[in-house]
Amino acid sequence: MSYQSEYQRALDDPQAFWRDQAANLPWYQAPRQILSKDENGMHRWFADGSMNTAYMALDWHVQQGRGEQLAVIYDSPVSGQKLKLSYADLLEQVALFAGVLKARGVEKGDRVVIYMPMVPEALVAMLAVARLGAIHSVVFGGFAPHELALRIDDAQPKIVVSASCGIEVNKIIEYKPMLDAAIERATHKPQHCIVLAREQAPAQLIPGRDLDWHEAMSDAKAADCVPVQGSDPLYILYTSGTTGKPKGVIRDNGGHAVALKYSMQAIYNMRPGEVFWAASDVGWVVGHSYIVYGPLLAGCTTVLYEGKPVKTPDAGAFWRVVQEYGVKALFAAPTAFRAIKKEDPEARTLARYNLGRLQTIFMAGERLDPPTYDWVVKHTGKPVVDHWWQTETGWAICANPVGIENMPPKPGSATLPVPGFDVQILDGNGQALPPGQQGAIAIKLPLPPGCLPSIWGNHERFCAGYLRDYPGYYCSGDGGYKDNDGYVFIMGRTDDVINVAGHRLSTGEMEEILAAHPAVAECSVIGMQDDLKGQVPVGLVLLKDGVQIDEQQLQDELVVMVRSEIGPIACFQRAIIVQRLPKTRSGKILRKLLRQIADGKDYTVPSTIDDPASLAEIEGLMRQRGLARV
Ligand code: COA
Ligand code: AMP
Repeated sequence: MSYQSEYQRALDDPQAFWRDQAANLPWYQAPRQILSKDENGMHRWFADGSMNTAYMALDWHVQQGRGEQLAVIYDSPVSGQKLKLSYADLLEQVALFAGVLKARGVEKGDRVVIYMPMVPEALVAMLAVARLGAIHSVVFGGFAPHELALRIDDAQPKIVVSASCGIEVNKIIEYKPMLDAAIERATHKPQHCIVLAREQAPAQLIPGRDLDWHEAMSDAKAADCVPVQGSDPLYILYTSGTTGKPKGVIRDNGGHAVALKYSMQAIYNMRPGEVFWAASDVGWVVGHSYIVYGPLLAGCTTVLYEGKPVKTPDAGAFWRVVQEYGVKALFAAPTAFRAIKKEDPEARTLARYNLGRLQTIFMAGERLDPPTYDWVVKHTGKPVVDHWWQTETGWAICANPVGIENMPPKPGSATLPVPGFDVQILDGNGQALPPGQQGAIAIKLPLPPGCLPSIWGNHERFCAGYLRDYPGYYCSGDGGYKDNDGYVFIMGRTDDVINVAGHRLSTGEMEEILAAHPAVAECSVIGMQDDLKGQVPVGLVLLKDGVQIDEQQLQDELVVMVRSEIGPIACFQRAIIVQRLPKTRSGKILRKLLRQIADGKDYTVPSTIDDPASLAEIEGLMRQRGLARV
């Protein structure tokens, strides 16, 4: 089958196309309704199918004779540990931990927050929640207590599962004090916390509330899978929007399983028994889809890597793992390869390893800049696939679908829309733009299986944020264009979201934090291009009248505030004092213009600007401080 005919079939008859894909999974009761509408009027896939995602990912494979095959390879250079779990081993652990949760009252539809580092128990916890038909919400370990508290209040979990610590390069990150601080701050109080004690740090358990993971597992009784409907939620994953309140993206069970199973073959060209490695973190969507669910639904072996691309111990870490486990497909963020390139520009460490079984390298999470693309292709000799997706979609919107047909790559492009996604470039009035012209990237409804049906607890936010700008379309928040061959080029966000080292962050949220400083009257946070991390945030700050503060002191205080409210991954390190911020006559800060100045791009002075002189002034200041590309 060619890409074009497969894409056209999904476009012409989506119900038939996705019914066929759904037939590749073991449902308890196959769905009769392929596409329907819910009480909000939203499209839903496979709503009446009866299933359990953990059953599809584990039990079924064991029943099919895959029990002895490796399900998970845990490789942790930061702790010196390695562990291999077969499908039978993983199933046993998951059923037991589901028993632990069940014994503490977790039932279908209940929420469980998981705040854990990259350890096998994180996967066990996720799958155990899924086994009970409950809903997990994994929170990335690099987030500070405030962020965790926001998520606890929004998801209202019965239980939080955590660990005593995570391990970063040469430092231990104690999770338990952060968990305690978050629960202290949150209005909602979970009934229990189950804490995995790691030897690198002790955990002080609070009697009555906290339980030790190993103790709880020692007398647990295995729990069975609880059937759910295809449209029941599997997880909530919070992602940055334009305000300080993260958005809880809901993922359903049915569409998710079908989309991921399809993608493992169509996009990643993976077969059962082969080894897949997504070098991400379970706290991000890439980790959910391609460390945990995708590879297991497809009967593959997944690599769980607790380490960095560099410094654990060196720039050869990725190549070592690829060789050691015979990885067929490697998926990582471009920033990881930029880090390797920086430490090992001639790729000398590569010569120590045999990448013979590696077929393709996939990248996503941020723009793949052509120099990084060229470097990886040149030194590895492997095809590199840039693919574009978002937490909201859960799988790739545009990719080179090498499992269907290997399309000729074009550096700078995420290649072509994946079957199921009708991608259009629209102007401000919602009209389709011709090839070569840049506009908003939108996806015609219905979205294919796997994409979000709503925002947890706030359907209006979903409608306002994604559906209202272009009726009949999902608005991605990214801008870009298509070329004459239909290849899609993603040019960056059109809103206040930035991508720092492949991590999605809200500048609006950072502005709210800076604005809380007693010296700050107004501020704007923009993403500035960075050679390693893609973008880094920079604060432009206007002081309150009469306030005197040294710029360095203010910067230091703001850095501490962002670090303690959002966390170290915000990478907020620069703030400068400005005399004026360019604004429209109605008082809106012209952020887009500031971004254009920072990126050294040409810009047109908008007619709505209140004080055109402010622009030249700020441009001069940013240049002087090295905050604008020349
Ligand atoms: N738990 C706690 N802290 C964490 C963390 C975690 N899971 N992940 C990162 N941090 C901390 C880091 O220790 C660092 O803290 P510091 O300021 O005290 O040094 C800070 O957050 C920034 O981390 P990071 O942006 O990762 O920078 P780095 O210099 O440590 O590493 C890279 C740079 C490029 C090696 C790293 O960012 C990387 O591997 N990126 C790939 C990202 C990725 O896979 N994203 C997933 C999307 S597909
Ligand atoms: P996240 O929800 O964290 O996965 O971040 C999604 C955002 O990352 C997208 O909206 C894009 O802005 C950016 N992104 C992801 N993949 C790519 C890509 N291949 N090219 C350019 N930007 C990307």
